[in-house]
Amino acid sequence: MTMRKGIILAGGSGTRLYPITIGLSKQLIPIYNKPMIYYPISTLMMAGIREICIITTPHDQEQFKRSLGDGSQWGMDFTYVVQPSPDGLAQAYLLAEEFLAGASSAMVLGDNVFFGHGLPDLLAAADEKATGGTVFGYHVADPERYGVVAFDETGKATAIIEKPEVPPSNFAVTGLYFLDNTASERARAVVPSPRGELEITTLLETYLEEGLLDVQTMGRGFAWLDMGTHASMLDAGNFVRTLEERQELQIGSIDEIAFRKGWIDDEALARRAAMFGKNTYGAYLKSLLK
Ligand code: G1P
Repeated sequence: MTMRKGIILAGGSGTRLYPITIGLSKQLIPIYNKPMIYYPISTLMMAGIREICIITTPHDQEQFKRSLGDGSQWGMDFTYVVQPSPDGLAQAYLLAEEFLAGASSAMVLGDNVFFGHGLPDLLAAADEKATGGTVFGYHVADPERYGVVAFDETGKATAIIEKPEVPPSNFAVTGLYFLDNTASERARAVVPSPRGELEITTLLETYLEEGLLDVQTMGRGFAWLDMGTHASMLDAGNFVRTLEERQELQIGSIDEIAFRKGWIDDEALARRAAMFGKNTYGAYLKSLLK
């Protein structure tokens, strides 16, 4: 395993979810029984990442700190960094440069939920790749909402285009990016797009042009959900609820993952469980101790 560090981008004004997000950060609103950001944190944890930089707007940082603390309750280490204005995803690599201190990274967007049986293996494979990067393509009905992959006849990725009017394929690039330690340097060369943002797709294309980007497709066995609309937020909540109730297993439980990875002991898990009293989440954590 490389010494990869994590970044969660939880900035943005969240205008697409107004009026909910006028007073609340989007990434803290609930997806069924947990704050949204629990899910992307759990994705990074499944990749073995314990050091995470959480990037927020200046006025929301306090809420995140109150909700997540310094990470030590999960045997992790959280660093908080502010994004003064939402100038694009690639900017995260500039804001996190000091935190990364030369390490490679896995960045996940604070509103992306990943779920699937083979996920830990997929993440481990991406983590293994020390040079270049890995992104994931996912078949969607509405590619024009995303960064979209263009493929040649042999199935090789040739371009990644941000919100194309005429999508070259149905494969959207998910908000999970494994990049090597040149990402910050490359981000410095990214110029703002017509919509005024430092686009992640422009950064990814620099890797692609050098033959250094792996575009892995996430197949039918995976769920990738994002919260771009009110409807998709409700869908994600229903998805989580359906599986959790059917299996009596939690999705996106930071507590459970930390415990199973051995990052926290019985006593620490019991302390967390006690915080939730008799609610189902607390009862679930207690049941893990048996
Ligand atoms: C961003 C990226 C896009 C990516 C998407 C995934 O879009 O710019 O390339 O496909 O996240 O969620 P945004 O959600 O900022 O519109």
